[in-house]
Amino acid sequence: MSYLIAISGKGGVGKTTVAGLLVNRLVKRGCKPVLAIDADPNTCLDRVLGVSVDKTIGGVREEAREIAGKGMASGIAKRELLEMKIEESLVEANDFDLIAMGRPEGPGCYCYANNVLRTTITAISNHYPYVVLDNEAGLENLSRRIILEIDLLIIVTDPSRSGFETVSRLYHLSREMEIKFNRLVIIVNKLRNDKLPDSVSSLKMSTGADLVVGLPENTEIAEFQEDGKSLNLLSIDNPVSNRLDKLLTELFIERKD
Ligand SMILES: Nc1ncnc2c1ncn2[C@@H]1O[C@H](COP(=O)(O)OP(=O)(O)OP(=O)(O)O)[C@@H](O)[C@H]1O
Ligand SMILES: [Mg+2]
Repeated sequence: MSYLIAISGKGGVGKTTVAGLLVNRLVKRGCKPVLAIDADPNTCLDRVLGVSVDKTIGGVREEAREIAGKGMASGIAKRELLEMKIEESLVEANDFDLIAMGRPEGPGCYCYANNVLRTTITAISNHYPYVVLDNEAGLENLSRRIILEIDLLIIVTDPSRSGFETVSRLYHLSREMEIKFNRLVIIVNKLRNDKLPDSVSSLKMSTGADLVVGLPENTEIAEFQEDGKSLNLLSIDNPVSNRLDKLLTELFIERKD
């Protein structure tokens, strides 16, 4: 069984940054291989991780739809073809692999392919001890039930009041949608001083979050992303990356190196 970390939050708060840094830190502490899943249609985790995606799962689904539409494949062959193409879309790096979901289905759900996608992605995930899922803003992907069992849900926010309100809304929505997760961590990103806002304690209480973690606004990260550079190359003492490493320790994710 793999340990699944799913990252959610409103737009632009730092979800992909946190996802990329967590993949790096997991790998560095020997918790590898990691499967990174980019569930944002606007694929960008690849750049953060220093790799590049050619094929997305959305593209694979469209190819399968065309083949099925032309009546070119029997039931079994169709399934095998889809599975093969899903595996082809996996980007392999040294210590992690990346799969990008690409566009979600358009109007008229292609349920057959989606079911195959779901089972195949679950099967692929099972080969990795750790899976990190980066989402688009909101809970769309989680509600699509691509992945069923979330060990750790991370909701990222900025330190603003409206950001905190969004965390609260997302938390309640996740309950309404019966998204299952074992632990919840709220990350307050881009703090201008190291102090978390006072309202953190009531947010922690109302959501039942296990931990609330503050991450500083950091020029090195901002510059790296402005230049399109992979976060793998951040300096060893980067405070954001180090704080996330400490979070892994707090979550009892042991070093294996
Ligand atoms: N701690 C930080 N310090 C400085 N800049 C940061 C920090 N975290 C994220 N950023 C910057 O904020 C911007 C948005 O980050 P990111 O792409 O990770 O957000 P996101 O939540 O994934 O966005 P989207 O909703 O578009 O997917 C990026 O330019 C990134 O470099
Ligand atoms: Mg993102």
